[in-house]
Amino acid sequence: MDENASTLFQHLKSAGIDNDLRTLIYSFASIALDAQHHFPKYLRGTMGDKNKYGEAVAALDEWVNGYLCDNLVKTGLVRKIYSEELKEPLIASANKKAPFAVAMDPLDGSSNIVSNNAFGSIVGVYRDDLPQSGRKLVAAFYKLYGPVNTFVYSVGKGTHEFVKHYDSAGNAQFYLLAENLKVPEPGEVFGIGGDPLEWDPAFLKFAKDLFRKEKLKVRYSGTFVADFSQILHRGGMFAYPATKKSPHGKLRAAYEAATMAYIWEQAGGASWSGKESLLDVKSLDVDARTPVFLGNRHLIEKLKKALA
Ligand code: AHG
Ligand code: MN
Ligand code: MN
Repeated sequence: MDENASTLFQHLKSAGIDNDLRTLIYSFASIALDAQHHFPKYLRGTMGDKNKYGEAVAALDEWVNGYLCDNLVKTGLVRKIYSEELKEPLIASANKKAPFAVAMDPLDGSSNIVSNNAFGSIVGVYRDDLPQSGRKLVAAFYKLYGPVNTFVYSVGKGTHEFVKHYDSAGNAQFYLLAENLKVPEPGEVFGIGGDPLEWDPAFLKFAKDLFRKEKLKVRYSGTFVADFSQILHRGGMFAYPATKKSPHGKLRAAYEAATMAYIWEQAGGASWSGKESLLDVKSLDVDARTPVFLGNRHLIEKLKKALA
């Protein structure tokens, strides 16, 4: 690792953002690193209960949600946490005047825990309480727990990626890997969730054209954060469309889609919900789902025509 590469801390310092936001982002990156030391103990098993979406809660889902919530509250900067794994938003009564509300998917990719494939954490930061559209995000970031640990953030001035490495004193740091990432053209890979037999036939035809005409290769891991990282580095498309059984798709608008769309659009990509940019999706239900389409701009334009 280039020891002269700037650290996340230095990068945030020159990002022209206020101290509170800088501290929140930096703190989260450290909290997520600390959390990972505990993963092995919670790797297996489910809690035997279901979350508000009717999905089985993995032991690690439950533990990570608790760990991230407790430590976000301890920063003193967060007054409210909306989480995929919380039935009601957490109100930090000690931080009533804190500047931020966050929307979080504490552990994205639960089905990959047991097989030790990559998973992640997704956080969106708002000044006002939700429901809000992603246009109101002041910061968006994710941590990818992969073969190496990466942290990607945007505060509306490009998308930047960092990797964990140790400094000469042996302390873990996030070092800058890529500044102002831009989605490569014309795009190389695609990954689509849901049962193809349940997709809208117009979308199925579009998906076939991705490899027939666009010559994209299939890459799908079942972890949004990991599949997103592939298209961020190689270009292409990620989608989780509506299906017959799930007419609003599977992914959550506030906890997953808006936050990742913010990072994606800051890297020059386009997003689509089937009706509008994922940054414009606003539901009164903070737990609402949305179809998700993220791609190179020309691919999203083709998709819009295909679904029109
Ligand atoms: P989560 O683990 O937070 O519930 O999210 C899982 C999501 C997302 O990471 C991924 O894109 C998708 O669900 C995978 O779903 P399928 O198993 O239906 O492919
Ligand atoms: Mn998720
Ligand atoms: Mn999750």
